[in-house]
Order: sequence, then C-alpha cells, then structure tokens
Amino acid sequence: LPILLLWVLIGYGLGAIPFGVVVARFMGLGNLREIGSGNIGATNVLRTGSKPAAFLTLVLDGGKGAAAVLLARAFAPEDAAQLAGFAAFIGHCYPVWLGFKGGKGVATFLGLWLALAWPVGVACCLTWLVTAIVTRISSLSALIAAASSTIWVVLLTNGAALLLGIPLTLLVYWRHRENIKRIRLGTEPRIGQK
Ligand code: G3P
Repeated sequence: LPILLLWVLIGYGLGAIPFGVVVARFMGLGNLREIGSGNIGATNVLRTGSKPAAFLTLVLDGGKGAAAVLLARAFAPEDAAQLAGFAAFIGHCYPVWLGFKGGKGVATFLGLWLALAWPVGVACCLTWLVTAIVTRISSLSALIAAASSTIWVVLLTNGAALLLGIPLTLLVYWRHRENIKRIRLGTEPRIGQK
C-alpha cells in the first residue's frame, strides 16, 4: 500500500503542473485566468491567438498524464499505473498550486489513456477530433470523447479498466458543468473564438 500511495503522490505532482498557465506566461501571452473562459487548458490558450502555445499546452498536459502512467508502470505493478494516471488527472483538475482550482482534464485524460491502453487513447482522440470537426466546440468534443471512452474500454480491452474509466468520465462531466449549461443555451463558443 505505501508503494501505491507513493505513485498517487507522484501522479498528482505531475498532474498539478499547470502547463497552460506556465506556457502562456513564458510566451508573453498574459494571465490565462483572465482570458476567455479562465480555464488553464489548451482550448483556452488558443483564445490568446497563439496556436503554437495551445499545441504545446496540449502536448505537455497530455504528456504529464502519459508520464505518470509510464513511470509507474516501469517501476511498479499495473495497479500503480492506473492509480498514477488517475492521480495525474486529479492533479490537473485540483492543483494545490492554484488553490485547487484547476482545469477540466481533457488533455490529461487523453494522455493517460494513450499510455494505459493505447487503442482506447487513439479511439478517444479520434472521437474528439471527429466531433470537433463537425461541431467546432471543444467542450462538447471532450464530453463525447469522455463518454465514448467507456465503450472503447469494453470493445478494445478486457474491460478491467472500466473501474478507472467510469470515474474519469464522470469527473470530466463534473468539470464541464458550466460548459454543459452553455452548450444547452447555445452560447458555448466555437474553437478559437474568444
Ligand atoms: O479542454 C477543456 C475544454 O473542453 C473546454 O475548455 O476553455 O472552453 O472551458 P473551455
């Protein structure tokens, strides 16, 4: 058990690095909390107008989820890899450095699935992409990709990862509750819109 706790802490520590805030600051794009939705993710970094910064944020936020899984898997049993990935997601959403007010976890979610069960990760990325191309709404794409993840886990794995997949999906919905209200009202901005 202490070993698992260690990987939870390492995963959380990685996940809690708010790359969007860091990238925006270092690239001179301002305080992300005062831009667009105020969220710390790549979608909101794109609202600064910088595609490279948004891309970098996406890769780094995804990378920390993947890194948590791969590190744990290299040194500990598979349970630890799942826990570390989950902890990274929690770290992104509730980072101690930002008073526990963090992001919505989408990039980290995709990154951890790519590392944990790559067919599920690829299927979720494609689901996000297709929805984004059709609707041009990032949050809606994330919600559909998150919901689809449970289907992909059942279809593409032995299903054991549902124990992780279902809580993750629910948390993505919880973190998007303001977005869900705007989607229902028809006021959710399209990708790249301020
Ligand atoms: O990845 C977060 C995205 O789904 C929504 O971000 O800034 O539009 O609330 P935002």
